[in-house]
Amino acid sequence: MTDASNAAGPGPFIVAIDGPAGSGKSSISKAVARRLGYGFLDTGAAYRALAWHVLDRGDDTGDEGSVLSAAADFPFAQGLDPDDRTVQVGATDVTAAIREPRVSGAVSGVARVPAVRRQVNDAFRRIVAASDYPAVVVEGRDITTVVAPDAPVRILLTASPEVRAGRRAAELDAEDATAVAAALHRRDASDSAVVDFLTAAPGVEVVDSSDLDFDQTIDAVIAVIDRRAPGVQRGADHG
Ligand code: DC
Repeated sequence: MTDASNAAGPGPFIVAIDGPAGSGKSSISKAVARRLGYGFLDTGAAYRALAWHVLDRGDDTGDEGSVLSAAADFPFAQGLDPDDRTVQVGATDVTAAIREPRVSGAVSGVARVPAVRRQVNDAFRRIVAASDYPAVVVEGRDITTVVAPDAPVRILLTASPEVRAGRRAAELDAEDATAVAAALHRRDASDSAVVDFLTAAPGVEVVDSSDLDFDQTIDAVIAVIDRRAPGVQRGADHG
């Protein structure tokens, strides 16, 4: 694609944000979208929903045939409203279920299948192209490189491994930070076999949030948007 990344063409302006697990990319991207009145697309939710769907069919995401067969029958729906993160598979609301550890543990199995990535990426492009928002913050690991390589604003949001593990542990209210760090490390290793999300591609700006708090990180991202795309239309501030 490049039609939906549309540096100049029709459709919403894209702010592409990549980053590893625990970098804060999801909550930061959502907050930036709310602040600027933009749409928000959490692309990891689609991979999670497909992993949920494979498990729901009683299959194993480690089996590529099962993943492909689930992907061929995947009635997935996700909107762009940063205040409504509902994700559905058919009539089932899977918004909470896709965050469960059993899905987090299974999702790399679906994300590593190239045909699945192509299918999911096409769905993202369609969702963004059909939207009425002036701009959409699209967040996920290969957004700056594969999904929207021509996006006018591309950001790699990083943080040190220690900071990322600490944030994930706090999010999950986990008592065992070591186990969380080990799980995060495993997922980084598994995911990075598919997408190099730890290195910024040329033209991608790095925002390192290791020493920034939440609001400072939002401001740093908005500063990049202002610098890269001065004068881009803003929607209503919902922040
Ligand atoms: O960001 P997250 O933890 O919700 O992502 C869930 C999984 O999907 C994770 O294994 C990385 C993968 N993913 C991906 O490969 N490409 C994306 N654009 C988004 C997520």
